[in-house]
Amino acid sequence: LNSFKVTINPFNKTVEIAENSSLYDAIHKSGIPIHADCGGEGKCGKCRVIVDKGDYRSEKNRLVTPEDSARNIVLACRTFPGSDITITIPDKTLLPYDYIEPLRSCPIAIKAETIDPLVKRFSLRLEEPSLDDNISDLERVKRGLKKAGVSGAIGCSLATMRKLAPLLRENGWMCDIYLLSADNSIVDAGRPSGGSRKLGIAIDIGTTTVATEFVDLESGRSIASHSLYNRQISCGADIIHRIVFSQKDDGLEKLRSLILATINETVKKITGESGRPREDIICAVLSGNTTMEHLLLAIDPKYIREEPYIPAATRFPILTAQAVGLDIPPHSPVMLTPSVGSYVGGDITSGVTASGMNNSDQLTLFMDIGTNGEIVIGNSEWMIACACSAGPAFEGGGIGDGMTATSGAIESVKIFDMNRPPVLTVIGGGQPRGICGSAMIDLMSELYYCGLINQKGKFNPDISKMIRKIKNTLGYIVAPKERTEHGKDIVITEIDIANLIRAKGAIWAGVSTLLKKLEIPFGDLQRVLIAGGLGNSLDIERSVSIGLLPDVERDKFCYLGNASLSGARLALLSEKARRELDEIASKMTYVDLSTTPGYMDEFVAALFIPHTDASLFPSMSS
Ligand code: FES
Repeated sequence: LNSFKVTINPFNKTVEIAENSSLYDAIHKSGIPIHADCGGEGKCGKCRVIVDKGDYRSEKNRLVTPEDSARNIVLACRTFPGSDITITIPDKTLLPYDYIEPLRSCPIAIKAETIDPLVKRFSLRLEEPSLDDNISDLERVKRGLKKAGVSGAIGCSLATMRKLAPLLRENGWMCDIYLLSADNSIVDAGRPSGGSRKLGIAIDIGTTTVATEFVDLESGRSIASHSLYNRQISCGADIIHRIVFSQKDDGLEKLRSLILATINETVKKITGESGRPREDIICAVLSGNTTMEHLLLAIDPKYIREEPYIPAATRFPILTAQAVGLDIPPHSPVMLTPSVGSYVGGDITSGVTASGMNNSDQLTLFMDIGTNGEIVIGNSEWMIACACSAGPAFEGGGIGDGMTATSGAIESVKIFDMNRPPVLTVIGGGQPRGICGSAMIDLMSELYYCGLINQKGKFNPDISKMIRKIKNTLGYIVAPKERTEHGKDIVITEIDIANLIRAKGAIWAGVSTLLKKLEIPFGDLQRVLIAGGLGNSLDIERSVSIGLLPDVERDKFCYLGNASLSGARLALLSEKARRELDEIASKMTYVDLSTTPGYMDEFVAALFIPHTDASLFPSMSS
C-alpha cells in the first residue's frame, strides 16, 4: 500500500497514513481532538474540514451541500486522500482545549463527620535498632504504627518493602507511612514530608467532560479543581458510539489513552496553578458510568450494548496509579466507584451517596441529566433506577450551536421583544459562542410561551423577524453575529428543538414509567434532586414548563451540580461514604426500560411541550 502525508492546519502538523485511510484517521493519528459525534460513521456532519491542497475522494453524503463541495469542505471521515494533502480544521470542528469552569458542587455533599481518608499518613519517629532490639525494618514500622493507634493486622506492598531499608537509614529512622484504610496495608513510605504530602484527587469521568478536584485529606478542604472536554469525543459523542469505536483495531487502547490524556492534563493544570507538586498526591477516587470505567481500564465494553447487556465488571479492586496509568505517584491507591449494571454506573452510586438520599426517609427522585439520563427513586429503605437514552442534547451534543456549561456559553435567555434579539447571560461575561443546557431549557420555554413555536416545537415564521430560514430548516437567532465571539449567528433550529424534545421526552418517560411501576403518584414525591452538567443557571420553573421536570411544589427541588464528583470527593474523605457506595450498588434495583411495558407510550406522549396530557402540568395551564 502507498502512504500519503496529511498536513493539518492551523497546527502545521504532518502525519503519514496508509492509502485507504481517511482524513479522520489522519486527524486521530495527529492527536488533535475534534468533534465527531457519530464516531466516524458519516452521520453527524461534525467532522467537517477544508481541503486546501491535494487530491482526494469524498463519498457522497447528504450532510455536504453543493456549496460546501464548491468550497472544498468535506467530512473527514468520508474523505480519502489520493496524494499528499493539506487540510484546515475549522474552529467549529475542533474540540476546545480550554479548561471548563467546574460546575457548582453539590450543596448537601459536605457531611459533618469525622474525616477518615482512603489513605492515611503517619509520621513516625522509630527507635534505632540494636543487638537487643533487632526486629526487621518492616516490623519496626508496624510497631510504630501500632503505637500511633493502628489496630489489627497490617500488610505491606512489595514496592514499599523494597524502599524501606535505605529510607529509614537515610532519614535517621524517621519516615512517613501511607496506610490504605480498606485493608490496613502500607501502600507507600517516604521521607518525612512535614505534612505536605496529603492530597487526594477526586475525578468525575463524564462522557462529555472530565472534572478533577484536589482535596486535602486531613482538613477535607478542596484545594482546586478543573474540567476539560473528554478527548474521547473524537471517537463519538455518546457511550454507544464509543463502544462501537472500541471494537475497531486499536480502538480500545486509543480510547484508554484519550481518557488518560484528559485526566492527566487536568492534574497537570491543577498542579501548575495550585503550586502543589503531583508528588503530594497519595490516592485517587474516580467515578464514571460503567462504559467510561471499562474504557479507562481497557476492559472490553462490547457486551454492555448487546442483549442481555452484561458489563465485564461492576466493582473493581483498589488498583495503583501505575496500573491505571494516572500520572501521579505510581503506588498511589486508585478506587473506582461501583456500578449497578451496564447503564447505571459509578457516577450514579457516587451522586446518590453525595445527595444523602440513601440516609433519608423522604421519598426522593434523583435525576442525573448528563450525556445520558439516569433516574433513581427511593429512600433509605429501597432504591430503583433506570437509564433513559436521552442523548447528549442538554450537554450540547447534537445541537448545532450547543456546548457544555463553560466560559462563553449562553446560560440564560429571556425574550422581551419578539422582533429583537433576546436578553442573554453568558458564562464568564464575554461574548457568547454557544448555548448550554440551562439556556436550551429557557429557549424552549420562552419560544413556546411567546407563541414562536407550537407544542410540537415547530416555528411560526410569520410572527417574529428573529425566525429565519437556515439551510433546509427554520431557526431562531439567539445571538446575532455582531454580538458573538466567532462572528457568526448563534441559532436554535427546528432540528435542535426536535432533539431537545426527544431528550426531555426520554427523561420524562423514564420518571413516569418508574413511578407507574411503583404505583406512586407524582405528588407523593417529597424531594426532587437534579444532578448533571446543565449549568448553574438551571431554572426550575422553566424546566417544569417544558415538561422536563414534574409539576410538584418548587421547594422540593434542589440542583446538585456535579454530584458524581462530590461523591468521589466524599469517598476520598469518609469510610462511611465508601461503605455506603457499596451498599447503594447492592441495594439498587435496575429496571431496563426497553423491556418495560408502557415506556414507549410514555415517551411518545411526552414529545410535546409540555406534554400531551396537560393535566400533568396544572400550574402551567394557570
Ligand atoms: S460525520 Fe464524520 S464523525 Fe460524524
